[in-house]
Amino acid sequence: MKKKHLVIAALIGLYTTGCATQENGVKVKEVLPFAEKQTEVMLKEVEAKTQQSGKPELVSPRTLNAEGELVLVPSRDWTSGFFPGVLWFLYEGTGKQEWLEQAKEATAKIEQEKYNGKTHDMGFKVYCSFGTGYRLTNDPAYRDVILQSAKTLSTRFYPKVGTLLSWDHSRDKWKFPVIIDNMMNLELLFAATRLSGDSTYYNIAVSHANTTMKNHFRPDYSSYHVLDYDSTNGNVLQKHTHQGYAHESAWARGQGWGLYGYTMCYRETKNPAYLKQAENIAAYILNHPNLPDDLVPYWDFNAPNIPNEPRDASAAALIASGLYELSLYSSNGKMYREKADKILESLAKNYTPKTGEAKGFLLLSSTGSKPSNSEVDVPLTYADYYFLEALLRKQELAKNNNLDKFFNIQANTMTAK
Ligand code: GLY
Repeated sequence: MKKKHLVIAALIGLYTTGCATQENGVKVKEVLPFAEKQTEVMLKEVEAKTQQSGKPELVSPRTLNAEGELVLVPSRDWTSGFFPGVLWFLYEGTGKQEWLEQAKEATAKIEQEKYNGKTHDMGFKVYCSFGTGYRLTNDPAYRDVILQSAKTLSTRFYPKVGTLLSWDHSRDKWKFPVIIDNMMNLELLFAATRLSGDSTYYNIAVSHANTTMKNHFRPDYSSYHVLDYDSTNGNVLQKHTHQGYAHESAWARGQGWGLYGYTMCYRETKNPAYLKQAENIAAYILNHPNLPDDLVPYWDFNAPNIPNEPRDASAAALIASGLYELSLYSSNGKMYREKADKILESLAKNYTPKTGEAKGFLLLSSTGSKPSNSEVDVPLTYADYYFLEALLRKQELAKNNNLDKFFNIQANTMTAK
């Protein structure tokens, strides 16, 4: 290399390192002491509630009910993996043995889900818990759970439609419902192919992502929630938005699932169409006139009484985490990071309970399903999960300007087929 080129290369190196070491806004290190105290409270609350209910099958905290009581769920609930995930993140953030032990214990409680083929939610349950655990411990037993779970999830793939079947319930309403949330469960399938060498899982994930990209989105890149397919020929029968305000509205968390999902699909495949899709979804969210100044969305972008509508902190946390990853791949990276920083700043400052309150949840003001008047303006375990994930991603970007340590999950021993 010529001298001039060497100097330019050195300057670029310096510039990149400079960017990498600059961390703006709230930092995971500042939030961790609060998160640890809250989670200590939560662990006591969970134990007390389990004993009081006499139902040992209730294993993970999900939310608070109208009376402010802790709601626990069994492992089959779609949210059961998030609290184990929070514990893994605390271990990752602090390196403390006690969080490792708690994470292992909570994770073990949902292992039976690896055989539960009745739902698409396998990724939420197993990848957030066992997947994160495998990344941090390389325990081959965790890898085997991931592989069995992917095998079970794959039984829901229908080649004639080209997607996984999301829900078994409400057959009176939908014949073959596929929900935008389902994009999130593809990460488990991509991981299973990496860990086993069996491309079946990868191919299912790609087919699902392509079919969803073709059918789920409107011209402005907002998405419907539920698409109903004819399972005999893959024709779309209905386009619904079950958890949003109206079928033609944009349910906030659904937009977040799409953003995160297509960003992750780009990471796994390097298909530029997925990157473009993620960028278009990000533009829809970030340019929306109803997105509040603090960037924490209302529960639906088209909710009728904005600004007097509940927010959804879970959507905000999820969007922040997705934007950090997308920032690595897109020419809009700087802007995405600034927006994600702003979301985390808002959440940390204005959406956290006082230490010791809210039974140990980290974030207030999420909305589960407003149309069913269920879980409106409450803490939700998945908001906490994506909040910590986003904070850890932010720190890693500032340190190393990449997120490799989160994504390079590989087989560490002989693979089980
Ligand atoms: N995956 C269910 C929800 O987002 O409410």
